[in-house]
Amino acid sequence: MIRKRIIAANWKMNMDFKSIDTYVDKLRNYMNDINFENKDVFISPPFVYLDYLKKKVKEIPVKIGAQNCFYEEKGAFTGEISPLMLKDLGLDFVIIGHSERRNIFNETDEILNKKLKKVLENKILTIFCIGEKLSERESDKTIEILSKQIDNAFMNINKDLLKNLIIAYEPVWAIGTGKNATIDQIKEVHSFIRKYLKKFVEINIPILYGGSVKPENIKDIMSLDVVDGVLVGGASLDMDKFIQIINFEE
Ligand code: 13P
Repeated sequence: MIRKRIIAANWKMNMDFKSIDTYVDKLRNYMNDINFENKDVFISPPFVYLDYLKKKVKEIPVKIGAQNCFYEEKGAFTGEISPLMLKDLGLDFVIIGHSERRNIFNETDEILNKKLKKVLENKILTIFCIGEKLSERESDKTIEILSKQIDNAFMNINKDLLKNLIIAYEPVWAIGTGKNATIDQIKEVHSFIRKYLKKFVEINIPILYGGSVKPENIKDIMSLDVVDGVLVGGASLDMDKFIQIINFEE
């Protein structure tokens, strides 16, 4: 069976209608160069552009998903977006627990557990992010932190639901800093996560690496067997760069 690698773009709070038009025009031009047999391309724009982007890429086999959602399905939660609304839009996936949600918006492990439970119960494919801060790595707490993030995230979640899960390991100190983790660091942590996840399920949950992924380092990162794909921030905003990441030479 062909192993499908996942190349996921997280646009964060960037882009506008005009830049999306240019982006998709370029993607359409590059489309024939992409081998969709062995690549799954995910794109995650801000909420307000989800529907527009989804319709614009209709004939291109890329998956479109949201960067966040709330853990309640409906009600008096001003400003929040429900998992049911994501389904209503026909989206393909959602990202939960990004370190920017954890650290800027104070989303705790408890909140993220509620979110993960709700989206998985709604059968939405979920990229769940984990990662240590620089101070935690420097005090040798990486493994402890990641185990705790996983344990807390999976609390009271039926293990059958985990088949719709993808884990993204994103060391906080490597996000947006231009400083990616070394190949040895990625290998060590991904191997640990892979083993640790077996505590919960037999199936292989895909594990992505995120943090300053760019055309210059994609090949080395993807050369690791324990890396199922990447979650790309900054370099995913420029289609000329993103296509080099998608089409890295194996
Ligand atoms: P950068 O690729 O900009 O470091 O961002 C990584 C990230 O946070 C993806 O979710």
